[in-house]
Amino acid sequence: MSTSIESVLHETRVFPPPAAFVAQANVSGQAAYQALLDEADRDPNGFWGRLARENLQWTKPFTQVLDESNPPFYKWFGDGELNVSANCLDVNLVNGNADKIAIIFEADGGEVVKVTYRQLHERVCKFANALKSLGYKVGDRAIIYLPMSIEAVVAMQACARLGVIHSVVFGGFSSKSLHERITDVGASLVITADAQMRGGKAIALKPAVDEALGMGGCEAVRHSIVYRRTGGEVAWDAKRDLWMHEIAEKQSADCPPVPVNAEHPLFILYTSGSTGKPKGVQHSSGGYLLWAKLTMQWTFDAKPSDIFWCTADVGWVTGHSYITYGPLAAGMTQVVFEGVPTYPDAGRFWKMIQDHKVTTFYTAPTAIRSLIKASDANAAHHPKSFDLSSLRLLGSVGEPINPEAWMWYHINVGGERCPIVDTWWQTETGGHMITPLPGVTPLKPGSCTTRLPGITAAIVDETGGDVEAGHGGFLVIKRPWPSMIRTIWGDPDRYQKSYFPSELRGYYLAGDGAQCDADGCFWIMGRIDDVLNVSGHRLGTMEVESALVAHELVAEAAVVGRPDATTGEAVVAFVVLKRSRPEGDEAIAIGKQLRDWVAKEIGPIAKPKEIRFGENLPKTRSGKIMRRLLRVVAKGEEVTQDVSTLENPAILDQLSKPV
Ligand code: WTA
Repeated sequence: MSTSIESVLHETRVFPPPAAFVAQANVSGQAAYQALLDEADRDPNGFWGRLARENLQWTKPFTQVLDESNPPFYKWFGDGELNVSANCLDVNLVNGNADKIAIIFEADGGEVVKVTYRQLHERVCKFANALKSLGYKVGDRAIIYLPMSIEAVVAMQACARLGVIHSVVFGGFSSKSLHERITDVGASLVITADAQMRGGKAIALKPAVDEALGMGGCEAVRHSIVYRRTGGEVAWDAKRDLWMHEIAEKQSADCPPVPVNAEHPLFILYTSGSTGKPKGVQHSSGGYLLWAKLTMQWTFDAKPSDIFWCTADVGWVTGHSYITYGPLAAGMTQVVFEGVPTYPDAGRFWKMIQDHKVTTFYTAPTAIRSLIKASDANAAHHPKSFDLSSLRLLGSVGEPINPEAWMWYHINVGGERCPIVDTWWQTETGGHMITPLPGVTPLKPGSCTTRLPGITAAIVDETGGDVEAGHGGFLVIKRPWPSMIRTIWGDPDRYQKSYFPSELRGYYLAGDGAQCDADGCFWIMGRIDDVLNVSGHRLGTMEVESALVAHELVAEAAVVGRPDATTGEAVVAFVVLKRSRPEGDEAIAIGKQLRDWVAKEIGPIAKPKEIRFGENLPKTRSGKIMRRLLRVVAKGEEVTQDVSTLENPAILDQLSKPV
């Protein structure tokens, strides 16, 4: 992303926090922030212990805050017990929130359903009792493959209530990806829907589950529970399939939460790494929930009167921490949205903010960039055509936000009065790590600014030494924190090797390159590994390469990222076929076939934007593919590097031409 990094690093605008916001903020002013930083740096265990006692209800209090006897396998609050669902729901029945709206659900077609905390509690209890009656218990694994819905939150919370470990799979993933996750996690239960509605169309979900379960290796799955979303025809296996509403309705509304150890896995969420196989990131119960709740209060300045809206899908970590867990633990009212930002038109987000009087809006740069384009094209869809005066805080997540998009968001959505929290974090970190605090931090468009208290983020070189301000390096977290990844499910070795390389002195390696400026603000420069960020979604280049070479026509493939004005990065694939290099219409036809194949193998989000065919790939004499050169070629730039080590320099010419 070289061009945008250049513009980012020359950015000099600074926006101090508005006085009106500071006056009412949960963390108000620099001194309050500094006091928290100091407390955490002086006595980390005292700091985290205090927060865990103040913010969570423990059925058995912990006596040890951090067990670091076996790094990097850290344990937090390790002898304490609690239940996550009780901390999200039951607490709100006794603190005056019972009749408060917990979720305002808006369906793709615009229908609105609201549930109070009491109603949500009842639905979770009934569904948890149904799971219990089917024999599901602490430690079992459930795959959740559901559309954005109240039912998705109910399913996740019901698992948490019983100590069943959930693994949510984004509804856009293919049956093959689903199968990979079902078998890797050893699921005994799948929770899905007949279909999901997106942009006015029904997209079937259950057939992908049926296909995945038919692929073999899923014998442990005893039931597939189906939420009836559209009521369309579905194939049914009477021995395995159950309707969610049928099994829940006859249950009691009382389901005692099962206390679990603080370290009990709450969920496993698969994410892309630099090798072919996605990693099952394992999160804890106590430490994870503590941070989901605290960051609601700190980063999002959660107030009882807020209407919070995070536009992520529960299939990603953002939807876990800032839909299913954080907002409920903080007793907030939140909007849950089934649809897409462009249906029925590109004014959808702004209309929903207006209709539901949203105060806090959290979305991804990709969505902002695509809505900028749409509102330029049609003024009726411009945020200025809506009443957005309810907004008081904006957020951004998932990828770097370019200063142009930041300014547009600030002026047109935030009316120049709302702070923007540009939150840097990852599936592995569980919650925000580097972000402005809206009542404290002067904002710089394009920078995620400063670390949260207790988070020891730093920029280091390849030996772990600190890098001075203004120089690039690896983004690391020096000390463990409660919501950190605990391991990669079933692969502790990979956990240790990927995140704690020995040369980095035991620091957590985030996989991002970054630099700090003279004010200590962080500027993220993108991944340092073979992971792409397409529309805020992580995608391993090796994953896409493996999918391509699994096609019968393909001999070899190399995948790289290219900067893209809307999606941040786009996938470009260089392919060598087993037969001669196609040209013209044939190349277009085979390109389409391969793109559809990748969508089927992984999911539509992984589809290469462009495929180029060559008789070969640029390789060194030892046979190593020179991806570095392919990145230059993919951008349409001239190769200026020395190519004398290449075995076949002429191939670059062939690959420079788009089909
Ligand atoms: C990128 C999403 C710049 C980064 C929560 C990270 C960001 C990866 C930001 C994690 C941000 C996330 N500014 N880059 N505010 N937030 N990233 O696991 O490269 O889907 O490593 O978690 O997204 O993506 P993940």
